[in-house]
Amino acid sequence: MNQVIETILNHRSIRNYKDQALPEEHLALLVQCAQKAPSSNNGQPVTIIAVTDKTKKAQLAELCGNQPYIAEAGVFFVFCIDFYRGKLACEKTNNEFCITDEFTATVIGTFDAGLAMQNMIVAAESLGYGTVPIGGILNDPQAVISLLEIPAYVFPICGLVVGYPKDYSQVKPRLPLKAVFNRDKYDPNQKTYIDEYDEVMAEYMAERTNGESRRNWSETISRVYRSKGRRNIKQAMENQKFYNH
Ligand SMILES: Cc1cc2nc3c(=O)[nH]c(=O)nc-3n(C[C@H](O)[C@H](O)[C@H](O)COP(=O)(O)O)c2cc1C
Repeated sequence: MNQVIETILNHRSIRNYKDQALPEEHLALLVQCAQKAPSSNNGQPVTIIAVTDKTKKAQLAELCGNQPYIAEAGVFFVFCIDFYRGKLACEKTNNEFCITDEFTATVIGTFDAGLAMQNMIVAAESLGYGTVPIGGILNDPQAVISLLEIPAYVFPICGLVVGYPKDYSQVKPRLPLKAVFNRDKYDPNQKTYIDEYDEVMAEYMAERTNGESRRNWSETISRVYRSKGRRNIKQAMENQKFYNH
């Protein structure tokens, strides 16, 4: 096993940080690693805003649903889907700019941002930092857009906390490999795999909560999926000139 694989297999989200800034050269290095991720058509529709200002971090912690580690950790990276540069390229070459009219830009941009973020996570963890992605940034996209002065055709899709861990949480078990690693066709035995995983997760929760909870995966995820999700995302994207040329 090499160090890259060890880092990946050791991943766990950290939600407890020291109030300590990262060295400036590490901020640049982490963004450089994120930027090295593959990109659809080399469009590179991703911009990363490193928020280190304490007031702004505190505001973002609240906006993301009161997640205190955003304020505590050294840096909060805001990953944005960015088609503004693409628009400028179209203007420069006298081409019409249409990619944001339909869903494609969102799919491409979200995928590229995800790849970039995962590159950063691996790089940060390999340097000994803790990380946790923050989807809570979508609670109130409009407020985040105003706070960070994000222009049209750019949309903050996910945040990433990076900092010095105060403690290392446990590695969270995943679904059985056979559930997600199918061969030559889709494996229909998913219910069996879920039953297996629910037992594993009940044990994990019992250990994590000193016996207070045995909530399994089905119970946890159904609490999320029974909701239709955030309704304000589409409107906020339209305000950023996605879908409404
Ligand atoms: C897109 C995305 C958004 C997430 N948003 C949050 C969040 O807002 N707050 C949080 O504490 N964790 C968040 N997480 C972390 C997940 O809860 C975590 O990755 C998952 O429970 C698996 O645990 P692990 O990362 O420790 O293996 C997010 C993860 C992803 C990929």
